[in-house]
Amino acid sequence: MAKELFVGIDIGGTTVKPGIFTREGEKLGNLSVPTPPLVDGRGYDAVTRGIDELVASVEAAGDEVLGIGLAVPCPIPADGDVKVVANMRLNLFGLQKALAEHFPKAVVRAVNDANAAAMGELWRGGAQGLSSCVLLTLGTGVGGGVVIDGRVAAGANGAAGEIGHICVNPSEPLECGCGRHGCLEQYVSAKGMVRVYREECAKRGQEPVELSGDTDTLSLFGAYQKGDEAAKAAVSLMCDRLGLALSIISGVVDPERYVLGGGVAGALPLFHDELEERFRHYVLSCSADTPIVAAQLGNNAGMFGAAYVGLLASEE
Ligand code: BGC
Repeated sequence: MAKELFVGIDIGGTTVKPGIFTREGEKLGNLSVPTPPLVDGRGYDAVTRGIDELVASVEAAGDEVLGIGLAVPCPIPADGDVKVVANMRLNLFGLQKALAEHFPKAVVRAVNDANAAAMGELWRGGAQGLSSCVLLTLGTGVGGGVVIDGRVAAGANGAAGEIGHICVNPSEPLECGCGRHGCLEQYVSAKGMVRVYREECAKRGQEPVELSGDTDTLSLFGAYQKGDEAAKAAVSLMCDRLGLALSIISGVVDPERYVLGGGVAGALPLFHDELEERFRHYVLSCSADTPIVAAQLGNNAGMFGAAYVGLLASEE
């Protein structure tokens, strides 16, 4: 009997993570590869090759893939014509077309990556059964998924949940990837935290710890645990700006829970108390007890949600 498979691909500024799933949401396999520029055949082929590999690993054929969800790091308007991509080079129409040609039986659907992560948590993670929650992904960029009445809000321009581009510092001289100034993402993303850390080191005439790249928060948190003052300053700034942003969101949505995903959230146990203290400092007291927890699916939430979007699209 032919299998029914669904693929979720989480496309981030740093890595592309495809996963292969059953209809019931069981993950059969997944991969992680560095993100190529996704603007031409070379980049698209890297993605289709990854999926081919996953399909082969479960001894299936390409035409057993019925739905593919593409989680991408930008707002997606209803007509699919993407206008702003802050952290990578992406031709979404081109990639969708390449996938549809390579997997002719599959319906291909794009979704914002953080919206996908919220869908993943609702489908198979910690948000199952919740009526409202707001999920934030703290990765190369910062995204959000706003769940109201059990559904992820899309917004009139596909930009509901663009939490990373809420302005938390109007006097910031540096430009954000979106072309504006003082976005949350500039302090709270992996890239933002590493930048702030390097600046704090320079201020102190201190050598930064060895960093594998511009988004290496693992080393930054390692330094933080050893008492590195510059790392402490970067983490404190991150907690303050994030606490402020969450308080603003509470004023609009007042969710039951905040769920943090993405690489930076892996270190939540290290900064949870400081973040909670800053959130409580800024928020209206009636919302001060809103729990802030880590995504149950961790860094895979976007991949799960993308597969779910592919599955739902295949049923339309
Ligand atoms: C983008 C969002 C995305 C987030 C995480 C932001 O820069 O504007 O759409 O969800 O990064 O990738």
